[in-house]
Amino acid sequence: MDTTRRQFIISAAAAGLMAKAGVAGPALRTGRLVKGRKINIACVGCGGKGADDVRQFSGENIVALCDVDIARASQAFLSHPKAKLFRDWREMLAAMDAEIDAVVVSTPDHMHFPIALRAIEMGKHVYVQKPLTHTVKEARLLLEAARRHGVATQMGNQGHSNESTRLFKEMLDAGAIGDVGEVTIWTNRPVWPQDKEPPKGGMAVPETLDWNLWLGVAPWRPYDRAYAPFDWRGWWDYGSGAIGDMGCHTIDAAFWALDLRAPESVSAEVVGGNAFSCPKGSIVTYKFPARGKRPPVTLKWYDGCCKPERPAFLPEGEKMSASGQVFVGTKGFIFCPGDYCDSARLYPESLRATFVQPPKTLPRIANGHYQNWLDAIRGVVDAPCSNFEHAAPLTEIALLGAVAVRSRSSFRWDAASLKCDNPAAQRFISKAYRMF
Ligand SMILES: NC(=O)c1ccc[n+]([C@@H]2O[C@H](COP(=O)([O-])OP(=O)(O)OC[C@H]3O[C@@H](n4cnc5c(N)ncnc54)[C@H](O)[C@@H]3O)[C@@H](O)[C@H]2O)c1
Repeated sequence: MDTTRRQFIISAAAAGLMAKAGVAGPALRTGRLVKGRKINIACVGCGGKGADDVRQFSGENIVALCDVDIARASQAFLSHPKAKLFRDWREMLAAMDAEIDAVVVSTPDHMHFPIALRAIEMGKHVYVQKPLTHTVKEARLLLEAARRHGVATQMGNQGHSNESTRLFKEMLDAGAIGDVGEVTIWTNRPVWPQDKEPPKGGMAVPETLDWNLWLGVAPWRPYDRAYAPFDWRGWWDYGSGAIGDMGCHTIDAAFWALDLRAPESVSAEVVGGNAFSCPKGSIVTYKFPARGKRPPVTLKWYDGCCKPERPAFLPEGEKMSASGQVFVGTKGFIFCPGDYCDSARLYPESLRATFVQPPKTLPRIANGHYQNWLDAIRGVVDAPCSNFEHAAPLTEIALLGAVAVRSRSSFRWDAASLKCDNPAAQRFISKAYRMF
């Protein structure tokens, strides 16, 4: 085994052992602030959303680009002729350690953790696409690693930086609808194939793609177009279905504004799907305990063919959006038609007529989510707004929903020990890793 591979396996095992012992470790502060020059950024996964991520950071120094498929990454590769190009992120990090300040991870979900963990342990600042990780345990380990190394972290749930998310939280904090005890969130996802049998034969691997590297830590399986690009979301080995894909966007406002933290129980009703493929639709029910004076919250999630009932308070003529959120409080309701809380509307009408939006008290995010991470690397802000202290517990919530869907079960959750009271669910809290 070469040194780079051995290093990764050793560090993953060390992180696991530390978590088991409940040891977060001393803050090493290996993430250095970058002042007076451009930030040297390496991007892993440069096609799909990665192409946009590379573009967003193009004002800095893009020193290295890594993708397992040179065709999918060609646009990013061609527009950064000075960047060194790699297929294997382990080789990139080992070869360019001294030149890299920060790493952007935009691969499919199953590879976020190994890449981000290695980068953090090398003292690199990281921007990691949502969901932060593929398993709940990985989210916990990544948060602990980020704490140990004092790097600037940001998850790619860009809606968290929106002005509307801040206005929404200020509205709830001001008691616009009183105490909130129920939240309903629905999404038009999946917009990719789910509820499928895994392909049998496999196809010829495209010449531009290194399939072994794409699979990475996932179990070996012959290549098929049914998996990559993009459609990996619908297969449990690589993605987490609709709730894994959208949960970190659409549960974010409720999580933040209601200060939710870990649920005490999660249950799922599931239509279709199998051990490999995510289902046609699901309903997930989370029960969150009371927090201080705030009452317990029941959050219901709907995706695919499972749709919530139209809220009785919506006036005739008001369209029920394809994706949206409803908050039920002791004084009224909020309806948000969309993935974020832009255009949040108060009901009944009488409440809207009298409610006065409170003064802006939350910090605003100057120049958006990407710049917010760069600002933290420069020391202009203390921490990015969706740093892993926020992003990891949010990801845990989304992925606990995926665990309930995948195991088709209900469980009580002990966040401190990462334990479900149901073995069928517990097996999906973590996963095994293939050596590749
Ligand atoms: N924040 C958002 O709004 C948003 C939107 C879309 C996707 N995403 C996230 O972005 C990530 C990528 O999704 P996508 O839709 O772009 O997927 P995709 O399959 O379209 O693209 C993934 C890219 O990563 C490359 N890749 C795969 N494995 C790699 C590896 N081990 N090393 C280097 N490169 C690798 C692929 O070749 C491809 O270029 C996912 O985590 C997804 O959830 C976020």
